[in-house]
Amino acid sequence: MSHHATTKLSSLLLRQLGPRLLSPSPFSGAMMETSKISRAMARNCTSMASTNAEKEEKPVPSSVAESDKTAIVSYWGVAPPKLTKEDGSPWKWNCFRPWEAYKADTTIDVKKHHKPVNSVDKLAFWTVQALKYPTYLFFQKRHMCHAMLLETVAAVPGMVGGMLLHCKSLRRFEQSGGWIKALLEEAENERMHLMTFVEIARPKWYERAIVFAVQGVFFNAYFLAYLASPKLAHRITGYLEEEAVNSYTEFLNDLEKGNFENVPAPAIAIDYWCLPPDSTLKDVIKVIRADEAHHRDLNHYASVCSSSSTSEKHELLIPLDLTKNLSSTRKTNI
Ligand SMILES: [Fe+2]
Ligand SMILES: [Fe+2]
Repeated sequence: MSHHATTKLSSLLLRQLGPRLLSPSPFSGAMMETSKISRAMARNCTSMASTNAEKEEKPVPSSVAESDKTAIVSYWGVAPPKLTKEDGSPWKWNCFRPWEAYKADTTIDVKKHHKPVNSVDKLAFWTVQALKYPTYLFFQKRHMCHAMLLETVAAVPGMVGGMLLHCKSLRRFEQSGGWIKALLEEAENERMHLMTFVEIARPKWYERAIVFAVQGVFFNAYFLAYLASPKLAHRITGYLEEEAVNSYTEFLNDLEKGNFENVPAPAIAIDYWCLPPDSTLKDVIKVIRADEAHHRDLNHYASVCSSSSTSEKHELLIPLDLTKNLSSTRKTNI
C-alpha cells in the first residue's frame, strides 16, 4: 500500500473511531436516539403484550409522549418513578438510587497489610509493586489526576470477577454464595468514585487516551489471570487496593498541609455517601479511602476462599454476619 493510501486510511479511521473512543460522553450524546429506540421498543412490547393479555398492558406514560427532549433511562423505555430525598427535594441521580446511598465505615483500619506468605501472594505482591512505581513516577503529586485514572482501573476487577463467576454459576448449575453480587457491587462502587472525581476535574485528551489503552490491556490481562487462578487475581486486587488506600492517605496528607484546595464536596458524593451538606473534598477522600480498605479486605478474603485448602478457608470465616457482609460489599469488615 502506498504512503498516500496509508495516510488516507488512517485519517478515515481516526475520523470514524476518534469521536466514539475518545469523546467525553458518547452515551449522553446518543441518549436522545436511545430513548427514541427504547420508546419504540416499549411500544412494540406493549402491543405484543396486548395480544396475549389485555390486562397487563402498560401504556407509555403521557410524560413520555409530551416531549421527545426527555431522555429516559430504564430497561423498558418507561420513565422511572419520581424519587425524592428524605427532605422531600427531588432525587436527581439516575446512576444510583436513594436506597443505594450509604454511610461509609471510616473506622476501618487503613494500615492493614496482608504479608505475602506463599508463592501466589508473592507473585501478586511483586506484580503490584512493579506497576506501582511507574504510576507514582508518572503522576507524582497530581493526586486528582492519579485518583481519577486509578478509579478507571479499579472498577475493572470486580466486573471481570463477577462476570466470570456468573458464567461459572450458569455452567455448573450452582449458586455463587453471594460473591457475584459482592464483586459487581465493588465495581459499581469504584465507578461511583470515578463519577465523583469527574465532578471535580475533567480528564484531558491524553488522559482519555491512556485510560483507553490501559483498559484494553488491563481488562484482558485480568480476565486471563482470573481464568488461570482466581486466587492470584483476587490477591492482586487486594494489593492494588492496599496501594489505593496509601495513595488516598497521601492525597489527604497534602490536603491537610494545604497543598491542594479543599473544595466543597460534589453534590453526587454528598448524596451517595450521605454526607453533611457542608462536606469538603477531604471528607470525600476519607469515605473513598474507607471503601478501598473494604475492597482490600474483601479481595484478600476472596483469594483465601478461592484456595483449594479447606482448612485455610475455615480459619478465615467472617464471624457472625458472613452472608450479610458478602451481599453488601460496602459494609464488610473482615
Ligand atoms: Fe476506588
Ligand atoms: Fe477499590
